[in-house]
Amino acid sequence: MANIASNGSAAQIDPNSKSAAWRARDRKAVSGAYSRYTDLVVADGEGSFLIDVDGRRYLDFGCGIAVTALGYRHPDVSRALHAQVDSYWHTSVVTQHIRLTEAAEKVASICPDPLDTVFFANSGAEVVEGALKLARQATHRQGIISFTGGFHGRTFGALSVTTSKVHYREHYSPLLPGVYTTPYPYCFRNCDHAPGEPCPIAMGKELERLFKHVVPASEVAAMLVEPIQGEGGYIVPPTGFLSTLRQVCDRHGIVLIFDEVQTGVGHTGRWLASEHEGVVPDVVILAKALGSGLPIAAIVARHDLMDRWPSGTHGSTFGGNAISCAAVIATIDVIERDGLLQRATVIGDRIADRARQWQRQVGGPADVRGRGAMIGLEFLDSAGMPDAERVDEIRAACLDQGLLVLGCGIDENVIRLIPPLTLSDQEVEQGLQVLESAVLQGGVRE
Ligand SMILES: Cc1ncc(COP(=O)(O)O)c(C=O)c1O
Repeated sequence: MANIASNGSAAQIDPNSKSAAWRARDRKAVSGAYSRYTDLVVADGEGSFLIDVDGRRYLDFGCGIAVTALGYRHPDVSRALHAQVDSYWHTSVVTQHIRLTEAAEKVASICPDPLDTVFFANSGAEVVEGALKLARQATHRQGIISFTGGFHGRTFGALSVTTSKVHYREHYSPLLPGVYTTPYPYCFRNCDHAPGEPCPIAMGKELERLFKHVVPASEVAAMLVEPIQGEGGYIVPPTGFLSTLRQVCDRHGIVLIFDEVQTGVGHTGRWLASEHEGVVPDVVILAKALGSGLPIAAIVARHDLMDRWPSGTHGSTFGGNAISCAAVIATIDVIERDGLLQRATVIGDRIADRARQWQRQVGGPADVRGRGAMIGLEFLDSAGMPDAERVDEIRAACLDQGLLVLGCGIDENVIRLIPPLTLSDQEVEQGLQVLESAVLQGGVRE
């Protein structure tokens, strides 16, 4: 098995390296709108590692932002893709095709009853758009409730419900009308109740206020929420929050949509993060890990709700193409066959246990949270303020030692750990050792 190389920052900025030449070509040919987390120039991927054009290997604890849950080039997914490439690739909505039907059955099989009917698209943002359109069609209402700090994508509708950073929204107004944003129970930072005391936001107090002062509940079509906020900072809401939302939506005939684009398909130790709370939405949306990196996303709902979406009122040329559907079927099969939901819990417990030891030391994270192998480490400075620079330093120190970790959070002061579920015990330990020295060498910033 490969070791983590000591990559050395000098090597990364060597002007004569192949990486430097590729970066120059990229700057000329590729839109600067992409904000890349690192300046790595990747040429290959293998198991838990990315390999750059200069041959440096990086153990990946970020999975291409929560996507490559089976690592790179998983042999079973690769085999399924090759088999599909040798058959047909695409029919669009010109025909029904067998791989799409199979993939829909497979996706329905990992969702709780009664979510049994699937619409496929290509990306997270597209299924956010689709789910909101479905809710408006089904209810003939307009209002949409979303939660502060949520991230749902970059297209106009998805952006209208995204409030993790104002930068994403700047200069794009007017956005979709009829969107009402209400607080998410981010108790570690934003609530003033005592730790362990019931959270008023989680109990629905802000929603009551919204319906009393801003919009009648009878005019709301949809409530869209991440069961764990992803980009917002890997924020796990207090127990009871999701069931409160379920009750509120039931009371007022609102379609409850869980955005499990980042949390879904296994990283939390269950197929859906919402299963941890035993709450079933009216609609769940999946993307990211669903196709192991092939572009595919799913809207899953009850049959009778899907039936209120008349034929032709939504569609997609590429959604559910045969290659991506083959990836979905193989991905779910591998997770089931290899017990990777259980493995997510084992990996996550090991990482979280270690991170809680760092929490007790000078310079350690102020908060460690998450579910399964989806873990956030939040860093504060000595004044208790969000410390984004610290997160940048940790990420750079890790990269230098061949470990790729990502940041997130409304203040960019959270390290997010979302490694492949195929990590070996040795790889978990290798990554933890690098992260540990990066976290503990920094101290607390004044
Ligand atoms: C919770 C959530 N929803 C939606 C999206 C948008 O997905 P995509 O980038 O595939 O459009 C993301 C992307 O990070 C996400 O985390």
